[in-house]
Amino acid sequence: MGWIKARLKDSLDALPPTTQTFLRSIYKLLKWPDRKRTERVFNAATSTGERLSPESLPDLVDSYPSFPPYSYAAEALETRGRTRAKQILNLPGAKGSRVFLELGCLDGMVSWALARHGKTVIGIDRRSEGFDSRALAAGVDLQTMDAEAMTLPDNSADFVFSYDAFEHFEHPDLVLTEIARVIRPGGYVWLEFGPLYLSAFGPHIYRTIPVPYCHLLWSREVLSDYAADKGAPIDFRHVNEWRIGQFRELFRSATDLETVRYEESLDLDHLDVLRQYPALVKQCTDDFEDLIVSHIRILLHRRP
Ligand SMILES: C[S@@+](CC[C@H](N)C(=O)[O-])C[C@H]1O[C@@H](n2cnc3c(N)ncnc32)[C@H](O)[C@@H]1O
Repeated sequence: MGWIKARLKDSLDALPPTTQTFLRSIYKLLKWPDRKRTERVFNAATSTGERLSPESLPDLVDSYPSFPPYSYAAEALETRGRTRAKQILNLPGAKGSRVFLELGCLDGMVSWALARHGKTVIGIDRRSEGFDSRALAAGVDLQTMDAEAMTLPDNSADFVFSYDAFEHFEHPDLVLTEIARVIRPGGYVWLEFGPLYLSAFGPHIYRTIPVPYCHLLWSREVLSDYAADKGAPIDFRHVNEWRIGQFRELFRSATDLETVRYEESLDLDHLDVLRQYPALVKQCTDDFEDLIVSHIRILLHRRP
């Protein structure tokens, strides 16, 4: 099941953005009655009760399908790089842009694919272990750098982009301020990221503990002990805990950056868990949307 979903996600990512948006709208429509039913249960609940016991965790883990490993195989990195570069090049302003900057690039293979389209690309990450030699060979300027305090000059990039990193940056607000500084007036910014912390798989530990919303049901100590026993220790600090309202406010209040396109995708596949444990879930948030908005895609334009 996990494999099927991962394959479907890859296929969805490769479709044109308008088709993706259309399919997401159909999904929301089909899930609407389930969502409303769950929201009613959530609103009626009071925030009480003890977290679940450690003994209940292994059985629940076994009852969920495991996720496929995120592939870092050479070929998979190339395919992902090409798919994302194609998506970027179809965005407004991208074809005419010369200097691209990728934040949280890890392997740098999206930058690699853009370099092969003749673009000048800088890829930054605070860790250099993942930098792929193919990106370096293609001329990508891979640099170890903190996106919250970049050492790049003002107005030095025509197009800034980032995949699956904004939920990891400790201070997304500092990163956005830095983006507004390094992007030239008239340039564009594409950010795609998630899952957000309070959504079903927000703590990014689903490959070890595939139980949706596990972080709202068990204490961190219970989850950490379980993962350590499995030989896959988890570090909750590698994701920030920003909520959807904070991200909305961040982008809304960015004075130099105007939102051109904004999309939130929902994960409505695990509403049964929210209905089963509404009192526990409510201890973590009063806002139902925190629980269901999982990903954000945003295109911003630096005001001229
Ligand atoms: C989940 S990985 C995503 C990597 C890649 N973009 C992808 O989609 O496969 C998040 C990346 O963000 C990087 N990162 C986290 N905080 C950072 C920061 N403050 N500055 C630069 N990179 C950061 C991490 O080192 C990691 O490589």
